[in-house]
Parts: sequence; C-alpha cells; structure tokens
Amino acid sequence: MNRQFVLVMIVIAAVFAAATAFAQQHRPYDQIMKDVGATFASLKKNLDANSAAAAIEDAAKLQGLFKETEAFWAPLKTKDAVDFAKRASDAAAAVGVAAKSDTKAALESYTGLQKNCAGCHFSHREDTGKGFLIRP
Ligand code: HEC
Repeated sequence: MNRQFVLVMIVIAAVFAAATAFAQQHRPYDQIMKDVGATFASLKKNLDANSAAAAIEDAAKLQGLFKETEAFWAPLKTKDAVDFAKRASDAAAAVGVAAKSDTKAALESYTGLQKNCAGCHFSHREDTGKGFLIRP
C-alpha cells in the first residue's frame, strides 16, 4: 500500500465516523424533545391544577433536559440554539422557584419559557410534514 492510498483511507474512515456520529445523535435528540414536550405539558397541567409539588418536579426535569439539549448543540457551534437551550433551562428553574410560593406567578415564567421553545423551533426545526428535522 502506498502512502497516498493509506491517507485516502484514513480520510474516508474519518468522514464515515463523523457521519455515523451525527446520525446517531439525531435519535437521542428526538427523544430529548419528546421528553421535553411531555414534561412541558405536564408542567402546565400541574400549574393549572395548583399542584405545586408536581410542578416543581416537572420544572426540575425540564431544567435537566435543557442541559442535555445544550450539550447537543454545543459541538454543532450553533450559538443561538445553545443560548435558547440555556435560557430555557434558566426559565424552567424560575418556574420551579415561583411554584414554591405561587403557581399563578409560575404560569408567567412558564410563558417566558415557551418563547424559547418557539424561538429555537423557528430557527432550527424543519417540519417536513412527516416529521421534524434538525437544522443546525
Ligand atoms: C435549542 C433548540 C430547541 C429548544 C429550546 C426547544 N426545542 Fe423542541 N425541537 C428542536 C428541534 C431542532 C426539533 C426537531 C428535531 C427533532 O424532532 O428531534 C424539535 C422538536 C420538538 C418536538 C417534536 C419531537 C418529535 O420528533 O416528535 C417537540 C414536541 C418539541 N420540540 C417540544 C419542545 C418544547 C415544548 C420546548 C420548550 C419547552 C422545546 N421543544 C424547546 C429544538 C428545540
């Protein structure tokens, strides 16, 4: 084997590895968002029902899910998505804190949190009609 051939093989292997890594990441991201969607709905229900303890639990779970979201976007160097994830995590924390004293006030923070969902979806989610794609 000559040197050039070896080099070409290494490059091909690297590209293939990167492509597989990206493809593998998509599935977990999908799952994070499904979890986010379900927990976000549950949070609203619990706030509406004035179930503070359950709402605080949902808010804490969302905070963790958005840390995961942030970790997904960081290597893609998509700064605004990372920022949306950070702000969403902070907003989820704020909902949790507010819910401790007043679930009505917590609903306001909930609306603030929702803006980050919409902001990131507008810039980075593509609706194909059959499902959603990530647009880095
Ligand atoms: C940092 C960006 C970002 C933030 C913040 C974000 N999302 Fe997403 N979301 C995406 C992208 C990109 C997709 C499309 C890819 C996918 O479905 O995996 C998506 C998909 C989804 C889906 C569809 C999942 C599926 O595949 O069935 C739901 C539901 C969802 N998001 C809910 C939410 C909710 C609710 C919030 C806020 C509480 C939120 N997201 C915040 C980027 C984000």
